[in-house]
Amino acid sequence: MKLFIDTANIEEIKEAATWGVIKGVTTNPSLIAKEGRNLKDVIQEIASLIDGPLSAEVQEADANSMINEALELVKIHKNIVIKIPMTLEGIKAVSVLSKKGIKTNVTLVFSIPQAIMACEAGASYISPFMGRLDDMNSSGEELIQKMVLMKENYHYDTEIIAASIRSTLHLEQAALAGADIATVPFKVLKASLIHPLTTNGLKIFADASKK
Ligand code: G3P
Repeated sequence: MKLFIDTANIEEIKEAATWGVIKGVTTNPSLIAKEGRNLKDVIQEIASLIDGPLSAEVQEADANSMINEALELVKIHKNIVIKIPMTLEGIKAVSVLSKKGIKTNVTLVFSIPQAIMACEAGASYISPFMGRLDDMNSSGEELIQKMVLMKENYHYDTEIIAASIRSTLHLEQAALAGADIATVPFKVLKASLIHPLTTNGLKIFADASKK
C-alpha cells in the first residue's frame, strides 16, 4: 500500500517527508483554507518537499472552467494531479483531461456506480471517503472492498485512494480491503507508529539493561 499525506500544512509535510514512507500528497479546498495561503504558493512549496503525485483541487463547477483551471494548475509542477469532484461536469472534465494525458483524481466518491463513471472517464485515481460514510452509519470499509472487486473485474488502471481517514482503524480497513493508496492526516500517520505493547516492551528492555 502506498501512503500519501492528506494535508496542506508545510510543517507536517516537512516532518513526514523525513520518514521516507510518504509517496504523495493530497489537498482539498478546506485544507488549503486552513493554512490561510494562496493555493499556488502552497502547492509549489509542497512539490519541493515530496517528489510524488500532488493532488490540487479545482474550484470551478462547470466542465470547461474546470478544464481551463486544470491547464493552469498543471503548469505549477510536473507532479500535479487535478482533483475533480464527482459530478457530471467533473466527469466531462476528467474525460477531456485524461485524453490530454493529464492525471486526475475524482474526489467525493461514495458509491460503485460513481466509481464506474470515474474509471470509464479515465481517472488516474478515485477517492472514496471512508470517514464521511461512517459518519452516516454506512461503511467506508465495505465501499473500498467493493471498489477493489470492481477494479479487478474490469482491470481498470485507476488507483483507489482511501480518503477521509480519521483513525488507524480506517487505515487498517483500507489496507485489508486492498486500496492501492491511503491518504492519511499527519495525526493518524503518527498514531500508526505507536502500540502500547511496543512502548511497554521498550521500557522492560531499558529497565533490564540498567540491571
Ligand atoms: O481526503 C479527504 C479528506 O481530507 C476529508 O476528510 O475528515 O474532512 O472527511 P474529512
